Formats: sequence, structure tokens, C-alpha cells
Amino acid sequence: MEKNDYNKPLLNEARKRSRGATSAIDFSIPESLLGIGIGKKYVMQTFGCQGNEADSEHIRGLLARLGFVPTAQEDDADLILFNTCAIRANAENKVFGELGRIKKFKQSNPDLIIAVGGCMPQEEVVVEKILKTYHQVDIVFGTHNLHLLPEYLDKVMRRKEKVIEVLSEEGEIVEQLPAVRESGHKAWVNIMFGCDEFCTYCIVPYTRGKERSRKPENIIAEVRDLAERGYKEVTLLGQNVNSYGLDFSDRNYHFSDLLRDLSLLSIDRIRFTTSHPKDFGDDLIDVLAHCQHLMPYIHLPVQSGSNKILKAMNRKYTKEAYIALVERIYHAIPGVSLTTDIIVGFPGETEEDFLETLELVRKCRFEGAYTFIFSPRSGTPAATYPDTTDMDEKKSRLWRLNGLINEGFARGNRRFVGETLLVLVDGVSKTDCDVLSGYTEHNKIVNFRGPSSLIGTVVLVHITDAKTWSLDGEVADHEAR
Ligand code: 5AD
Ligand code: SF4
Repeated sequence: MEKNDYNKPLLNEARKRSRGATSAIDFSIPESLLGIGIGKKYVMQTFGCQGNEADSEHIRGLLARLGFVPTAQEDDADLILFNTCAIRANAENKVFGELGRIKKFKQSNPDLIIAVGGCMPQEEVVVEKILKTYHQVDIVFGTHNLHLLPEYLDKVMRRKEKVIEVLSEEGEIVEQLPAVRESGHKAWVNIMFGCDEFCTYCIVPYTRGKERSRKPENIIAEVRDLAERGYKEVTLLGQNVNSYGLDFSDRNYHFSDLLRDLSLLSIDRIRFTTSHPKDFGDDLIDVLAHCQHLMPYIHLPVQSGSNKILKAMNRKYTKEAYIALVERIYHAIPGVSLTTDIIVGFPGETEEDFLETLELVRKCRFEGAYTFIFSPRSGTPAATYPDTTDMDEKKSRLWRLNGLINEGFARGNRRFVGETLLVLVDGVSKTDCDVLSGYTEHNKIVNFRGPSSLIGTVVLVHITDAKTWSLDGEVADHEAR
């Protein structure tokens, strides 16, 4: 492979890769580095998806091993870290804005270390921009080498030199990474890394590398350990969980096999995200319909309801196939709640294409969606497609789509009024600190009064009212589980 100045990423290498087994290594920190952060404080900001949230929990785990402690005050920090997202331009602009804003802390404390990790550094253009414009940054590391952060910190602390280390190739899967988890009752569990889909608008296959599945025995051991430590819910993470295991050369074991095996453990709730419709097979529907602990909620990104646009996006299914899949799911899992992702304003999307998306949304009865305006990402095919729709028109499409999606959100909440549901209590409500809040099995937020001792437990709540975004209820039984 061609070598570049620092270890910067080479975007165009990504498409040449082939599918294949990836080996795993067990992580350990060199003993000489343990304690290098004692007496030091850090602030971390995380942007983007659950994959980044999970990575940040590992970064916190690594920093804790080194002796660093978190602080909320940037002016008191010895280390400021950004775990970044590259999915759309506005996610990146926020990070550049933050880098500019915190420059003042470096001026008052020259020993302050500023580190940028995650997806943005996996783009050549971003690394160039940081090197050229953001001289206050000391460490740039990517998604493939976050486990080496202790070594990079040591280098900067001892030798006072910049570390720009972004690997183009993913290397081994790193097992046994320490983690400081945000919640004591809900946990993210990576089941695979990377993505091989190459949807034409998406930067993820470049920033996250090729698809690599963790071995089922490692995942099962992790979930078993979480259950033993009192965790109630796990969310299995992957860019396309439905292609889990396709890279194994030593066994024939798929996502449905993993779910079946995990459902035998004593963890109350198993969720997963994200599913690609093209790989959502009947074996998976069958497992979801019949095995315990698998939640009746599926996030199934459709992106568009126009076959012309789906083809241009390289999504590998038609709207008819998607709708048929949704009907099979509704039939096999009565009452299941479906949500989706939709992009409007993809290059070449006409009003007719957009109306087809609205029609698909009506047919699929979604109960929520993440909706986006297409954002051209440098290095992806769609960034070069001719795009003649003006931004005002794209915004108007997003607004019309959101109106319809919100109707589905409210309808999805209303259907539970009068029922008594199991709720995993998360904490106090964001809007009223005297009120508790948690999620139902269908992933609906419920607010209700109750003692804080219920946090982290599953309780039965009688639903009394539905708002557009949440449900109101009253505790029916403190001892549901
Ligand atoms: N522009 C707009 N939305 C995008 N997404 C991914 N890439 C882009 C892009 N370039 C959306 C897709 C995906 C979600 C995580 O982000 O809808 O499912
Ligand atoms: Fe991006 Fe498509 Fe992979 Fe999802 S499946 S991460 S949209 S390339």
C-alpha cells in the first residue's frame, strides 16, 4: 500500500477490499503506561451514532486505566477529546466549530492536550484541514486504533510532539477493551464493525472499514457477564447487523443464530440496530417472532420510496420488496413497532419520486423516523451526481415528510393508552425532575411518578395518556421483574 506523510487515511483503497475472516487479539495496556494520567482530568464530547457512543465508553475505560478522571469543566481539563461523526456535513461543522471555541483553553494552558478521534479523521480531507488550520490539535486518531490512545497520550506527554495516526486498514478485532458504561442497566454491545454495502451517499464504509464480525462466543460471554452484573438491556450494534457472520470462514452462523443463542441468557431485553432490508430473511423474522427477550421494535432504514432513487443509492432492493418485507414482519410479529431512516433531496429526486416516498411511509405505518436532507460526502459516488434541486425545495420536502412521520409517531403512542406495559426505568424525566422516565418494550418513552429507587428496574405502568413524543402513566406494580 502507498505510504503517505503522517499516517493519514487513504480513502480510495477502501473499495478494493475483499470479504474475509478477521482475527481477534486480546487487549492489554503496557504496564509502563498504567498511571500516566494520575492527577489529570479530561472532558470528552461524543458526536454521532450509537457506534460512537460505544467507542466513547471504551475510551473512558482506557482513560480510567491510565488514571485520568472526568471533569465537566473545560478550563480545568488536562485533556479534551472529541469522538467525531462524518455522516453529514453539519456533524463535521459542529466539531470544527468546537475546535475553534476551545483554542482559548490551549492558550491559557499550553500543556492541555486536544485529541480528535472517530470517523472524521478517517477522511483525508479532514486530516489535511486539521493539519493546516487547527494547530491546537495534538492527537488525531481514527476508528481502527482507538485502543492505542494510551500510547499516543504517552508520546505527547513525554515528547511534546503531535501524533497523527489514522490507519486505512482495519487490522484485527480488539477484544477485552475496558469500558466505563454510561448506564448501569443498559449496555451497547458491538457485534460487528465496518460496512461493505457502499450505499452511494454514505461515508461509513470508508470511515469504519470492511465488515468484521465478532465471534459469537465473545459476544455471548459479554452479554452473559452484563446479565450477571444486573444489566437489564443490551443493544447489539452493527452498521448492518443482518449481514453478521457472512465473513466467517470457519462456520455457518448468522444473525438469527446469534439472536437465538442470546435469547437463552437471562437478560430481559435484547435490541439491535441497524438492519439493512436486503438481508432481513425469514429466519430472522421467525426468531424475532418466537424467541424470548427480543423486543418488538425494529429500525429498518428504507431511505427512499422511489425505485429509481433506491437504485441510484445502491440499496439493492425495490420499494415493492421493502413493502412486502414489512408486511411479512407485521404478520409474523403482531403489534411490532417499525421506524426508519429517510433521505430527501438525493440527486435526481423529483417531486414524483418524493410522493412515492410519502406513499411508502403511509403503507408501512412507521411509528417514527430519522429524516435527513442529502449531504454530499467527498469521496462517495453520489457527491459527484448532478443535483439540480434547490435547497428550499429540499427543506420543503423534509418538512412535508416530517409532518407525516409525526402523525405516525403520535398514532404509535395512542395505541397503548389504557394498556399496562413493562417499562425499564431509565432515570428522571428531562422535562420534570419529579417524574421518572423509561422505555416500553416497543421503545416508547413513558413518564410517570415514582420513587427514584425504581431506576434500573422493570416496572408495570398503566398508560393514561399519549402525547406526540411520549406516553404518561401510573405505576401499577413495583415488582414486575
Ligand atoms: N446525507 C444524508 N443522510 C445520510 N445518511 C447517511 N449518509 C447520508 C448523507 N450523505 C443517513 C441515512 C442513514 C443514516 C444513519 O444517516 O439515512 O441510514
Ligand atoms: Fe452507510 Fe449503507 Fe452501510 Fe448503512 S448500509 S452504513 S447507509 S453504506
